[in-house]
Amino acid sequence: MRASKLLTLVLVVAFVLSACAQPTPPPAPAAKPAAAEPTKAPAAEPTKAPAAPAAGGELKIAILAPLSGPVPTFGVMTRDGALLAIEEWNAKGGVLGKKIVPVIEDSQCTPDPAVNAANKVIDQDKVHYIVGEVCSKASIPISEIANAKKVIQISPTSTNTDVTVTKDGKAKDYIFRACFIDPFQGTVGAKFAFENLKAKTAFIMLDQANDYVKGLAEAFEKSYTGLGGKVVGKESYTSKDTDFSAILAKVASVKPDVIYLPDYYNIVNLAAKQAKEKGITAPFMGGDGWDSSDLDLKAAAGGFYTNHYAADSKAPEAVAFQAAFLAKYKDDKGQGKVPDALAALAYDATGLLLTAIKNAGADDTDKVKAAMEAISYQGVSGKITFDKQHNPVKSATILKVTEKGFVFDSVVNP
Ligand code: PHE
Repeated sequence: MRASKLLTLVLVVAFVLSACAQPTPPPAPAAKPAAAEPTKAPAAEPTKAPAAPAAGGELKIAILAPLSGPVPTFGVMTRDGALLAIEEWNAKGGVLGKKIVPVIEDSQCTPDPAVNAANKVIDQDKVHYIVGEVCSKASIPISEIANAKKVIQISPTSTNTDVTVTKDGKAKDYIFRACFIDPFQGTVGAKFAFENLKAKTAFIMLDQANDYVKGLAEAFEKSYTGLGGKVVGKESYTSKDTDFSAILAKVASVKPDVIYLPDYYNIVNLAAKQAKEKGITAPFMGGDGWDSSDLDLKAAAGGFYTNHYAADSKAPEAVAFQAAFLAKYKDDKGQGKVPDALAALAYDATGLLLTAIKNAGADDTDKVKAAMEAISYQGVSGKITFDKQHNPVKSATILKVTEKGFVFDSVVNP
């Protein structure tokens, strides 16, 4: 894959348009078409599990996504990618002869709302299948509930190892994901810093209470020091912090070659802006959590991040997906919305789950679990087969942040 001028152009347009909108997006869903989909199924029509394939009827799929809270672009894109897949499947007759009905809940990238949402869709709506969450710290508690209740969960984007694996290293039977995991993502980031950026020293900033951030920082540090790089500082903050000046003063004094900040875009925006104001010129690096149309490009320009998907992919599945997404979802100005990695992975996770249900031939989560384990699925984000811990083995893409948008840099295979 190579960076295309078209990608940059499309992204420039997308970012200029998003810059015209409010800097902090409203918590409410931004994409109207999806909001019109049914979100609540009547309690009077529970699906029974496990049931034999029946002609007609409905099959519910829950979409648990952070539509409000700290990272709403993640939720909106995830919901919209999943709904596009459901719409396409329904247009072709649904699955097992049933109409696929989405049940959407806002799980807020936060453990308590995520647990409430999982209990609600399982106990009240009687769903047998969950697509979500985005954030590892929300997906992990959901996985405990789903696995205990034999409900299949597939997280499109949660990269922390603990999502699919118990503390003693055993795969959770009913839990899967559509993305690579952080030990790989951290290694890719460390190699890129050391070999491509020739960074001999790194400073790590992390939120210890965020499973994703903590896991990715650990993976990066292990690989980076293994390669011969030196970590010259490691400082913690909390998700509530808005002033990073104390940490940045330390960064300024030790002058690292690179600053690794594997958090979500909302934190990156604050820290990178304050670093620029302090005159710090070392590039920031991070992971997939940077992937948002609300990343502050001016602040993060010069930085790099590891990701799942590049919008200029020319694979036929990706080209078809991009066209369908642009046609279905419009921004305030009526322009097609460019799908990001979250949209692509939610689309893949939903398509993969529905294919497994179809292959299983029944709405029976034991059969679907076996069909998932045996699947070979060509998605928009690459080919997916599962290893023993229910993780796909997939390549990572490195993107560079410029003031005009994200630019493809390279692909790293596992
Ligand atoms: N990987 C992040 C997590 O596990 C979520 C994420 C994925 C965010 C992709 C943005 C893009 O919490």
